Amino acid sequence: MRTGVRVIVEIEALTKIYEGKQRVTAVDGIDLEVQPGEIFGLLGPNGAGKTTTISIATTRTLPTSGRVRIAGVDVVAHPAEARRFIGVVPQYNTLDRSLTIYENLYYHCRYFGFSHGQARQRSEELLGQFLLLERRKAYPAQLSGGLAQRVQIARAIAHRPKVLFLDEPSAGLDPQSRLAMWKAVEELRKEGITVVLTTHYMEEADALSDRVAIVDHGRMLAIGSPQKLKETFGAQTMIHLALRQMEGAEALATGLRGQAGVQSVEVVGDGLRVFTMGGEGVLAELVHAASPLGLRDIAIAEPSLETVFIQLTGRDLRE
Ligand SMILES: Nc1ncnc2c1ncn2[C@@H]1O[C@H](COP(=O)(O)OP(=O)(O)OP(=O)(O)O)[C@@H](O)[C@H]1O
Ligand SMILES: [Mg+2]
Repeated sequence: MRTGVRVIVEIEALTKIYEGKQRVTAVDGIDLEVQPGEIFGLLGPNGAGKTTTISIATTRTLPTSGRVRIAGVDVVAHPAEARRFIGVVPQYNTLDRSLTIYENLYYHCRYFGFSHGQARQRSEELLGQFLLLERRKAYPAQLSGGLAQRVQIARAIAHRPKVLFLDEPSAGLDPQSRLAMWKAVEELRKEGITVVLTTHYMEEADALSDRVAIVDHGRMLAIGSPQKLKETFGAQTMIHLALRQMEGAEALATGLRGQAGVQSVEVVGDGLRVFTMGGEGVLAELVHAASPLGLRDIAIAEPSLETVFIQLTGRDLRE
């Protein structure tokens, strides 16, 4: 193993093709480097290839081509060694339902070679750290979604991995549990654990990540800090004009494209999507221009990772 590794996760020209009745290119040439101590977000819609990328990086799936190194260790050539550096919280709950919370932690430690005493001590420590002491004897089925997620994170870091992979950590959590989960992730940073998380919540990627990669159809469309992505791609305000009639919408779009302050215009399902730099009077002019078609509604979105995503893909993350 190389010493003094500066890049903790290295993904190089990674490709995964699922062969079956239908050939699916789930990951299509992804290159990515994560630095030690970073919280890194993979942001993309359903089917973008997030889980597949994580499955390969965590030795659960073999790539079709390309490679992943964790702390310098190739995950295909040396899976067992790589696994010592990796913690995983999968997209779906994988706690052992026949074991208590304490036992889930304890046996995980044992699996990673801890002695009985070490495993007991580490499990106690984690119960304390994740505020689980009172639920130590509970079984996974008795836990709320938020609590089960906390146990999963505790278990994932029990063997002191260098990198924690969190696949959709807040899917299905209520807002309060989501905030608690965010806090737990921030705490991990203080312990020096690098975090790679996937999400299709823009707010989550924005709030948690030092850097974000936007992925779609197995490809990386953009990478950078949320701030930088917004500056680069989303410096514009997005105005959605919902129209009563779509007849004439194309002509309206063409007309608007020439207007001062208007950057681009797209015709969407129920109206127009106009990107502007904001600016004096633009909104009034849009309202005026659209009124012959019957303006049903108007929505204004300030630059966010959502508007960045829409600009890059022409689609909504939730579509
Ligand atoms: N085992 C499999 N066999 C065949 N196709 C698969 C398999 N797993 C995933 N796919 C396909 O690969 C593509 C990427 O899926 P993946 O689960 O990696 O996406 P994702 O970004 O995690 O999506 P989600 O937001 O739904 O979790 C999808 O088209 C999916 O249907
Ligand atoms: Mg997934």
